[in-house]
Amino acid sequence: MNILILGGGGREHSLAWAVAQNPKCDQLFVAPGNAGITKIAQCATLNILDGGAILKFVTANSIEFVIIGPEGPLVAGVVDVLEAANILCFGPSQGAAQLEASKFFTKSICDMANVPTAHYRHFTEIKNAKDYVRLVGAPIVVKADGLAAGKGVTVAMTLQDALNALDDIFSNKFDRADGEVVIEEFMEGEEASYFVLCNGNEVLEIGTAQDHKRVGDGDTGENTGGMGAYSPAPILTDAVARKAMSDIIKPTLAELVRRGTPYRGVLYAGLMIKDERPRLVEYNVRFGDPECQVLMMRLGAQALDLLLACAEGQLSNISVNWAKDHALSVVMAAKGYPGAYVKGSLVKNLYNLPTSSKAMCFHAGTDQSDDGIIANGGRVLNVTARADTLPEARNQAYAMVAEVDWPEGFSRSDIGWRAL
Ligand code: AMP
Ligand code: GLY
Repeated sequence: MNILILGGGGREHSLAWAVAQNPKCDQLFVAPGNAGITKIAQCATLNILDGGAILKFVTANSIEFVIIGPEGPLVAGVVDVLEAANILCFGPSQGAAQLEASKFFTKSICDMANVPTAHYRHFTEIKNAKDYVRLVGAPIVVKADGLAAGKGVTVAMTLQDALNALDDIFSNKFDRADGEVVIEEFMEGEEASYFVLCNGNEVLEIGTAQDHKRVGDGDTGENTGGMGAYSPAPILTDAVARKAMSDIIKPTLAELVRRGTPYRGVLYAGLMIKDERPRLVEYNVRFGDPECQVLMMRLGAQALDLLLACAEGQLSNISVNWAKDHALSVVMAAKGYPGAYVKGSLVKNLYNLPTSSKAMCFHAGTDQSDDGIIANGGRVLNVTARADTLPEARNQAYAMVAEVDWPEGFSRSDIGWRAL
């Protein structure tokens, strides 16, 4: 079958890499893709938020399956447009994508379904929000309601930080997130990500991972989209996963079915784990980036069978074939990220890196120039390795990082530290 993947980051490079290895895949298209993806798929220039434009492309290229990487097209309703035209899609409808698009929506689902999560209040008036924050005090978590590209959440360790965050939200600093806020109890514990494929009430676990959100070693500095990941996450033991499945995932799916917006696609639950007890931090309606890269490295070609079974409502008839292995991915970013950074620097020596089922340098923000590969974003490469043990996977990934000749880039030197 011909397949289209929407997106152009490291997540989509790893999805394309896994999908292209499966004999079911004939022609693979990725829109917009990146310089790494052009080596394994045909990249297309498309507005990936425009369902009509995508449908036209799908029809013109006899595409039978569309896999949506980022949340933008999901929240924009691209799946609804394609499914109305009987195109098989991997990803939730616009209604179900509210799980990521609105913090308040998710909190109300948690209330109805009795899902363990932080206590919260929802405000639309800055005065009431500030009064509440003054009453409760710090630490406290302030979240703009709506997609804010990962910048809408402030974990305020002081009252002043919380008040400043409210000023930012109510002064329209985040495009679509203005004027509504969720204020939450600060949860202590260790965070991990739990990934499940869902179709209505059907659900299949497809892996655990831990991300590194801060830019600096030892989890210091500013928040980023993620500076590295590994899978599995040892904190997410089988016992914790069972609790997450029974107390968090299943009641959420049942509530969405009850509301007439069944969830289809990958559900990424961010969990806070303390004393073996998981509580929900947030849902994302897509694979994590860079968590997807380590999951794909562990799943390989079977990923396509799993995504197809999910889209077709066949999850009860398939299982994951796990190797007892570990994958780790190191993000190489442009100096300055997550603040201002310069685009266009040459990234050299990439073609000397190993490429195998156990070692891949996934491209995130890259472009092809006449002189070679250039950096074209904040997060630029995801250097990923798989091995029998986590220390081996880490050593192999960092050996590859050392080969990359890119003076304008940097990476954290301690990816995996919690598990190691
Ligand atoms: P979110 O976008 O909701 O995932 O929030 C971003 C990050 O903020 C999370 O990954 C956590 O590290 C942190 N965070 C969010 N909510 C809480 C909470 N209630 N307690 C502690 N940390 C939180
Ligand atoms: N790495 C975090 C995310 O994809 O949301």
